[in-house]
Amino acid sequence: MAGKELQAVRGMNDIFPEESAGWQALEGDLRMLLALYDYGEVRLPLVESTELFARAIGDATDIVQKEMYTFADRNGDSLTLRPEGTAGCVRAAIQARSIRGQTPRYYYMGPMFRHERPQKGRYRQFHQLGVEVFGLPAAGTDAEVIVLSARILRTAGVTASLQINSLGSPAARIRYRTLLLDYLRPRRGELCADCRERMERNALRVLDCKVPACQEIARMAPHLVDHLDEDSAAHFASLQSLLTALDIPYLVNHSLVRGLDYYNRTVFEWVTDALGAQGTVLAGGRYDGLVAQLGGADTPAIGFAVGLERLLALQALQGRGIEAPHPLLFIGALDDIAVARAWRIAERLRDAGISVVTGGPATFKNVMKQAERSRARFQALIGAEQIAGEPLILKEQAGEGRWQGDPEALYEGLRSLGVDFPQHAPHTVPNFATARTSS
Ligand code: HAM
Repeated sequence: MAGKELQAVRGMNDIFPEESAGWQALEGDLRMLLALYDYGEVRLPLVESTELFARAIGDATDIVQKEMYTFADRNGDSLTLRPEGTAGCVRAAIQARSIRGQTPRYYYMGPMFRHERPQKGRYRQFHQLGVEVFGLPAAGTDAEVIVLSARILRTAGVTASLQINSLGSPAARIRYRTLLLDYLRPRRGELCADCRERMERNALRVLDCKVPACQEIARMAPHLVDHLDEDSAAHFASLQSLLTALDIPYLVNHSLVRGLDYYNRTVFEWVTDALGAQGTVLAGGRYDGLVAQLGGADTPAIGFAVGLERLLALQALQGRGIEAPHPLLFIGALDDIAVARAWRIAERLRDAGISVVTGGPATFKNVMKQAERSRARFQALIGAEQIAGEPLILKEQAGEGRWQGDPEALYEGLRSLGVDFPQHAPHTVPNFATARTSS
């Protein structure tokens, strides 16, 4: 009986070479760009104690209440697949004592896990690039981080608009919450079921509900920025004048409150309507209280994360998708004797940094089929004649290029057909030339 075909977990995707080429190009661009701003990579565990996320993200948040992949390990400890990277990064920085009197700039890239309802742009395993900066309280750092986020989107060729808000100090937020509840309670009946339930637990979240009736109510609600503490108000004003001076257009969105509890003061999101409902590409904010709350020294911090699937989807929409690279050369062996020779030549070309795929042993017709399927730019076949000393024919598969010569001189043949060789080949060409005599 044939075995049942197994499927990937819903909302978790496989990424094959046709797509991973685009991922690698994007990841490479992002890494280079982060180095320009002096960010260093931290590689963090995918699994942390459940308590970390409950304490950092907040017990009352949707993420902690409904979306975490939580399990008991063999010791009975409650562990969770990371739903985001900030909590783990802060935990690691405290543990490594790397933020005591220091101002590190960290980034991480990798999968995150949330049990959300999968749809276009929303997955259960998705990938983020996240950055976190520690030890710098001034609004200038908020501006720096926003400038970096703008460049990330520009580098990816993505157009989005910036929305900002300030959540002020925790005390100001508690005062505002009372005001907000006074406004919401008489309108409770008009809110969606989620918001009615959410209201007492996490009133600010009502402000960013996507249901039109709730949005209408949110629009008329008192504005948080009108009730900030004095320092936060000055901080927010300073950020706005910096953004203006840096020519970064923004909109103050009074409903922008974010879905994680650790934020204070600046929060921001880059949004687009090109992706349907999942319009937020990049999001973050300041979280000055989190390090101390997780047991570290009092340390201001700010960061953001960008969803790589969403960046790539936007790139694809804008026709900036990247094709998987094809090998430069296909070398086919027409019989068993030719195989060793073909493979050896291929290995030497690889020494010189040339991508080669080999095929055969098979009939001429089948080797030709393999050559075509390889999508290599050039093809060369080796058979009994070449073993007996006849020249080999090097052909451009989809063009006119053609060269004929000694199989051992394939490198020169490729060069005569105008191929640009990599500048930093793992080995040099003389290695190839010296090996000639030994075959
Ligand atoms: P977040 O808003 O939860 O923030 O997620 C940031 C970004 O991750 C979103 O804007 C989106 O692009 C992507 N994302 C989130 N959930 C999904 C999903 N289910 N499928 C696909 N993409 C998704 C955070 O995670 C914070 N840790 C950001 C931060 C860092 N704040 C300070 N430092």
